[in-house]
Amino acid sequence: MTRLPHLTHVKHPLVQHKLTAMRRVGTPSNQFRGLLREISHLLAYEITRDLPLTDARIETPLQPMDAPVLQGKKLALVSILRAGNGLLDGVLELIPSARVGFVGLYRDEETLQPVQYYCKLPDTLEDRVVIAVDPMLATGNSSAAAVDLIKQAGAQDIRFLCLLAAPEGIARMQEAHPEVPIVTASVDDRLDDHGYIVPGLGDAGDRMFGTK
Ligand code: URA
Repeated sequence: MTRLPHLTHVKHPLVQHKLTAMRRVGTPSNQFRGLLREISHLLAYEITRDLPLTDARIETPLQPMDAPVLQGKKLALVSILRAGNGLLDGVLELIPSARVGFVGLYRDEETLQPVQYYCKLPDTLEDRVVIAVDPMLATGNSSAAAVDLIKQAGAQDIRFLCLLAAPEGIARMQEAHPEVPIVTASVDDRLDDHGYIVPGLGDAGDRMFGTK
């Protein structure tokens, strides 16, 4: 089985075109959510590309054949609230049998450190491929803390799916969880003094839900 590399930057033209539309300051929330959903399908395709297959004996209308099916590796998705839900819905459309968990972390705006306010994870993470989803890998502090919680719940095969990543966040994840592959649509330039990704797209949750 080919393992996913530590970082996958998905440069597919459809992903990049849709991401540019999401970045535009004037894109309204309903379009922003729709674009995120569409991109989540394409990113889910990349983050699941190493799932093992096995052959199942089936009958086509013409003859029997051995045809590939997923090899029983069960999946779980963990949304890092609240922006993670924007990626979750689309990934769940592709993997409807996945169990779903939620981790609630907010960022203390002074220290930029994550504070946990909610954690509800599926019981059986040991045997599952777990995909943690959060559109923005910024400082990496929340993402690393979320992966800590997922590991504490027993998960051993964890991947991280985001839309934008800052170099600082990638480095933080590499330091805290070097075995967790990251799939992203963009590696942006840097973080600003408030921990926002630059050029970025602003606050993903606010852009999704029209809050400020
Ligand atoms: N979270 C966001 O929503 N946007 C950023 O730029 C950084 C963290």
